Amino acid sequence: MKDYKKYVIKCQSTGEVIGDFSDWFAMNQTCPDGSKMVTVEYFEDLNELKNIINKKENYKYPQSLWRYFKFLPLYNEKNIISLGEGAIPVNRWTFLEQMAKDAYGVNCKVFVYRNDENQGTGTFKDAAATMAASIMKEHGVKEYVIASTGNIATAYSRYLALAGVSLSVFIPENAQLTHQSEMGTYGQRVFKVKGDYAKAKQLAAEYAQKYNVLISLGNIDPIRVEAKRTMVFEWIRLMEEFPTVYIQALSGGTGPIAIKKGIEEIKDLGFVSKLPRFILAQPHRCNPMAQAWKKAQENNFPEGWLNDYPILKNPQTTIPTLSTGNPTTYPIIASIVKESGGEIISFNEDNAIDIARLATYETTVKVGPAATVALGGFFEALVDGHIKDGDVVLINIGEGAKRSPEFMEEVNYSTKIVSSIDECEKFNRTQYKDEIWKNVLDRYPKKVETK
Ligand SMILES: Cc1ncc(COP(=O)(O)O)c(C=O)c1O
Repeated sequence: MKDYKKYVIKCQSTGEVIGDFSDWFAMNQTCPDGSKMVTVEYFEDLNELKNIINKKENYKYPQSLWRYFKFLPLYNEKNIISLGEGAIPVNRWTFLEQMAKDAYGVNCKVFVYRNDENQGTGTFKDAAATMAASIMKEHGVKEYVIASTGNIATAYSRYLALAGVSLSVFIPENAQLTHQSEMGTYGQRVFKVKGDYAKAKQLAAEYAQKYNVLISLGNIDPIRVEAKRTMVFEWIRLMEEFPTVYIQALSGGTGPIAIKKGIEEIKDLGFVSKLPRFILAQPHRCNPMAQAWKKAQENNFPEGWLNDYPILKNPQTTIPTLSTGNPTTYPIIASIVKESGGEIISFNEDNAIDIARLATYETTVKVGPAATVALGGFFEALVDGHIKDGDVVLINIGEGAKRSPEFMEEVNYSTKIVSSIDECEKFNRTQYKDEIWKNVLDRYPKKVETK
C-alpha cells in the first residue's frame, strides 16, 4: 500500500481504507462493497487546527477556505485554484432580533453567513468548486460530468475552466436561463434535459458511463463535504458563540452533512459540544423532505420512517435551484435533523419577494431566491415555536441576487414612470418601511406561545 502522508479516504460502511483521491477516482468512486459513502481522515495533529482557528498560526491563505490547507485533501499548494471563496463574513442582523422579540416574544441572537460574498460565482457552491478544481488539477483529471439545478454547476463551470477541465453539465429544463448562459460563457458544455432534475441526473450518469468520465457524486461527494465542513471552523473563528440553530434552504443537503462531519471531527478540541438544531427549509412547491418529515413526526417516527418519502415529478417551484423532487438523501438528512433536535419545514415561496424586499431594505444585502427560503424559514420557525429564548441563530444566505435578474426586477418596488415634474413628489425612503414590514408580518401572524 502507498504511504499516505496527509489524508486517507475510508469507506463509511466498512471502514476500509480506499487511499487518496487518485485511488478513489481509479475505483470509479465506488467502495469495494459497492457503496459510495466515504469519509476523509487527516493525519495532521488536530491542535494545528485549533491554532488556525484561534488565529495563532501564521497561515498563508487568509482570504479563502485554503486557510485550512493542512486539513483539506490536497497534497501540493501549487495546485490550489482559488478565487477567494469561503472567507466570508458572519453579520449580525439585529433587525431580525428586534422583530423576533417584538412580534413573537422570543429573545434570540440572529446572524447571517454571507455566501453571496463569495468571489467565484456568489453562492455557497464556490467552496465545493475550489476543492474540486484543485483536486482535479492535482490528479490530472481532464473531463468531468455534473448534474445540477443551477448553482453547483455554475460554480464548477468557472473553477474547472480555470483547471483546464472539460465539464459536461446536465440541467433540468426549468433551470434559470442566467445559470445556463454563465456556464456556456465559460466554455463548458450545457446539456439542457427535457425533464426534471431526476432526469438530468439520469442522463448525466449515462453520459459518464458511456464516455468513461468521472461524475460528481452529488450531496455525498467527499470533495463537496470536505470543502463545506470548513464552514464549522470559520464559525468558531468568527463568532463568539457557536450557533444553537442553523437555518438553510434545503435541496439535497450537502450543507448539513458537511457541518455534522466538521463538528464530529473537532469534538475533542472543546469548541463545540453538540450539533446546532438544523432547521432546513424547502419551497412549498418542491418540499418532499418536509412532507416526509411532517408525516413521520405526526406518526411519532414509526419504524421505517427514514425510507418513507414522496417523489415529486417535475416540481413546479419558482425557485429552480431547490427543485430536488426525488430526495434520495432524505434518510441521511432526516436522521441528522432528528439527532440535532431540528426540523425540516416548508416555506411558502409566494412570500419570497416580500422577504427579499425586507432584507434588502434593512441591510442593502441583495438576497437571491434560494436565500429567501432560508430567511423565510426563520419566520416560519418563529411562528411555529421552533426558535427559543437564548438561541443563537445562524442563517445561511446561500446566494446573492446577481444571477437572478428576473427575481431582482420583481423585488424592485420603487420605480414610478413619470412625464412631468408634477408627478414627482418629494421622496423620503422611510415611507416604505411600514409597508414592507407589514407585508411580511401579515404573512406570519403569531401562532404559538414560545418559551
Ligand atoms: C443558494 C443555495 N442554498 C441552498 C442550497 C441547498 O443546498 P444543499 O441542500 O445541497 O445543502 C442550494 C443548492 O443548490 C443553493 O444553491
